[in-house]
Amino acid sequence: MLLNADMQAAALNVLVWGVAAVCAGRRPVERTARRGRARAVTLLTLLGLGTLLVLGRITTVVLMGRESLLFVIDRLAVALPSLVLPALAALVCTVPRLLAWARRPSLETRTAAFSPTAVVPVQVTAVGAFVGLWTALVTILAPPLLGPALLIHSAVVLLAALAWFWQTRRWLAARSGPRTRRSVPVRALRAVAAVAAVAVAGTGLANLAAASSRLPASMSMAPPGATAGGHHGGGESVTAAVGTTSVTELTGPRDERPDRRFTLVAKEKTIRLASGRTVRAWAFNGQVPGPDLRMRQGELVEVTVRNELRGANVAVHWHGVDVPNAEDGVPGVTQNAVRPGGTHVYRFRPDESGTHWYHSHQQTSVQQMRGLFGALIIDPPKPRPADHDWFLAMHSWDTEDTEDADSVPALGLADRLERRRAAPGSRVRLRLLNSDRLTHEFSLTGTSFRVTALDGNAVHGPTPVSGQKLALGAGARYDVEFVMPDRPVRLTEVQDFVGARDRGLLISADGRGEVTPDIPSRVFDPTTYGTPAPTPFGPESRFSRTQSTVFDNEIGFYDGRFRITWTVNGKAFPDIPHLTVREGDLVRLRFANRSHFDHPMHLHGHHVLVLSRNGRPVTGSPVWLDTVNVRVGEVWEVAFRADNPGIWMDHCHIGDHAVLGMMTHLSYENVTTPYRVGRETGNRTE
Ligand code: C2O
Ligand code: CU
Repeated sequence: MLLNADMQAAALNVLVWGVAAVCAGRRPVERTARRGRARAVTLLTLLGLGTLLVLGRITTVVLMGRESLLFVIDRLAVALPSLVLPALAALVCTVPRLLAWARRPSLETRTAAFSPTAVVPVQVTAVGAFVGLWTALVTILAPPLLGPALLIHSAVVLLAALAWFWQTRRWLAARSGPRTRRSVPVRALRAVAAVAAVAVAGTGLANLAAASSRLPASMSMAPPGATAGGHHGGGESVTAAVGTTSVTELTGPRDERPDRRFTLVAKEKTIRLASGRTVRAWAFNGQVPGPDLRMRQGELVEVTVRNELRGANVAVHWHGVDVPNAEDGVPGVTQNAVRPGGTHVYRFRPDESGTHWYHSHQQTSVQQMRGLFGALIIDPPKPRPADHDWFLAMHSWDTEDTEDADSVPALGLADRLERRRAAPGSRVRLRLLNSDRLTHEFSLTGTSFRVTALDGNAVHGPTPVSGQKLALGAGARYDVEFVMPDRPVRLTEVQDFVGARDRGLLISADGRGEVTPDIPSRVFDPTTYGTPAPTPFGPESRFSRTQSTVFDNEIGFYDGRFRITWTVNGKAFPDIPHLTVREGDLVRLRFANRSHFDHPMHLHGHHVLVLSRNGRPVTGSPVWLDTVNVRVGEVWEVAFRADNPGIWMDHCHIGDHAVLGMMTHLSYENVTTPYRVGRETGNRTE
């Protein structure tokens, strides 16, 4: 809301100050006192309105700043000074002259109102207002701000000087008598020429911007500076330069005998949702979601992925499992994508447990949504027993049904109410995954429950929850447990409640019965849930580095097209600098979401510990996550230990956002990769 108000204030400032600048700059030819007064009053009204709007923008910036300084630091450095200072000058210099003209219209007061002192402040305020809108919408600035701020302010000062010079000439000309007006045809011609010139220049600039925004057909994902002989396109045999490690060396155990073997075959398959709708899915082993990969903590796991898709490459990422870098399944960073007919073998030994998942990381936004994902569940050495242990993936499917305008939401393949049986007294564990694009909210009606794990990480001392809904960002997992009561229980996705009325999961002794779903307004807050427990580091630790990032949406050209892009500190992939760390570093990340959408930020290869959310430290159980859903207007502070060398993606798990810019990387010093991404490489991570 605040952001919208701020944008509106910025836009209205441009409008009002723009009109005022045009009015003020028009040569006064008013012959009668009445006309002169009318013009002065109009201008004064515009300036009054403009002043209110400046105050409005100051207010929105102050209110945003009260949420977090991260939200406004760019505005404090650029947008506000370039608006407020000239507006003050207009109040001091322009307004008195206009007042004099309005009170005593005469040649003298009229001339004074056209002097550079009166006109230029209004023009410069219009420029400042434009800068304020541009930097909120098109070119978002982020620290370090000194350079851009100096550049922009100098440009404005230069423009002001030019305006002064120009206005002085016009003023002197006006004083030396009435201008001889040119004939109508000449004026019309000049106007047409001017419009044409602006149009040509505008199209030229737009074309240039579009062309220069094209993503390279092939580019290295090695952090700048780290060089492996990778410039000839990645082959696995490329060895790193002296003193550097190639990701190809950072593999899981290669020689030992695996404890568990899985094979995943990716192939097209038409599947049927519960309602009968059909989906042209991409499936692992003919199943959607793919087969559950279930293993025990500490086991050596080997997964062979075979690609039988027609014309699409594939690579599989083990989301939430901190595998060695070469096993991470990111095409163009940790491997080359598997071409049709090819195979790739992944090996890792998870030393953690919990509900995780796997999905294709090649063209993730498409392949994962088409069905190339599944559960990866790691049992701890002593698993807590449950009578029913159900994995439920919230997904939405693009069906072949032409009546479905949007994709159809479903729990797994159940796009209508699914019924399952559980005897009263039995222990039920729901492993909820959000494999969809949006944040989804769920309610569980008919019983209280405990949230026993977040992103597969056990919650310490979970207490019974009721009257709260669970909000899962894209990629997130919540384990929910309860003892089955002697009446039915219902899980419902409540976000889109109208549509969800006839969807969800109903559990009862005989699979029958009805429950009216609750729609709690309170959202379960993991940062105040459970009881504290020791953590290896915390808010008071000394951090080797801290990185603050602000998420925005910007408008402009991206990969040759005019789009809304999703930016990290004003930059989109591949321009976002890697976060570079050294092994052993303790790293703190701050995420501030100033955009109009949630951003579930997923860091590969590491778990992050939440330090605070919206400035409030975690008071309950430690919250360990691999995907931090930074909702609109939120600020999160998280930390992690850099203990898994490699080059790791850190990206928004909403595929459509990743495609349009929201992909960054965490790189360890001296780690490099021979692989490349881009149209020509066959490797497409987004
Ligand atoms: Cu679940 Cu980079 O992805
Ligand atoms: Cu996002």
